[in-house]
Amino acid sequence: MIDIHCHILPGADDGAGNMSDALEMAELAASSGIKRIIVTPHCNVPGSFRNYWNYFMAEDVRSLQNEIRKKKINLTVYPGQEVYLAPGFVELLKKGEFIGLNESKYMLVEFGMRETADVAYRKLQQVIAEGYVPIVAHPERYGFVSEQQEAVYRMKDLGALLQVNRGSIKGAFGMSAMKKANEIISTYQADFVASDAHSQYSRTPYLADVHEFISEEISADYGDWLFKVNPSKVINGEEIYSF
Ligand SMILES: [Fe+2]
Repeated sequence: MIDIHCHILPGADDGAGNMSDALEMAELAASSGIKRIIVTPHCNVPGSFRNYWNYFMAEDVRSLQNEIRKKKINLTVYPGQEVYLAPGFVELLKKGEFIGLNESKYMLVEFGMRETADVAYRKLQQVIAEGYVPIVAHPERYGFVSEQQEAVYRMKDLGALLQVNRGSIKGAFGMSAMKKANEIISTYQADFVASDAHSQYSRTPYLADVHEFISEEISADYGDWLFKVNPSKVINGEEIYSF
């Protein structure tokens, strides 16, 4: 499996605090059958984590990989970001402050939790106009998605892809997110399920149980689609189609 959303880069944000935490997360991920992780620190969060792309961040990803190798953990990491679409983000995007996942055209994006639907759609259109395909992180957690039945379809019609969080499926983000996550998956509107892991203790990078759940309850092919096929296309920069 491949995890396309994981806060495992040590010291970058509210995820892994140091290298030892990151290596414990890496070990847990590998034990759940994850072979590749895209490292996605929060980026451009107003008043908080900035993490704009530069040489030093690339070095941090390389040194994480070196430590993983030294520990003999069977896991490859790739660079990425979870880009917060705050006002003014287009200028930063044009300046090269953001990268897509593994530097592809697929950009993992998030909104403020109280973003309104119209503003969210406009921001997705702006990302697309710059030549990227936005992957909306945890759509099930946003108020406008829970409140408006058509929101999922509107975002997909615009050309966005949807990444549901592992924890939402199991209820870690409340009833409303759990209901919406399961609805998005059972109607085959999800394109990815990822861990959005922040630590080795809670919100962990363990995907085996949700992969098994989806494979058994919905479809084995769809389970592979969400955890293997589409994530692999992201890493390789290949086209992604609906299930
Ligand atoms: Fe995240």
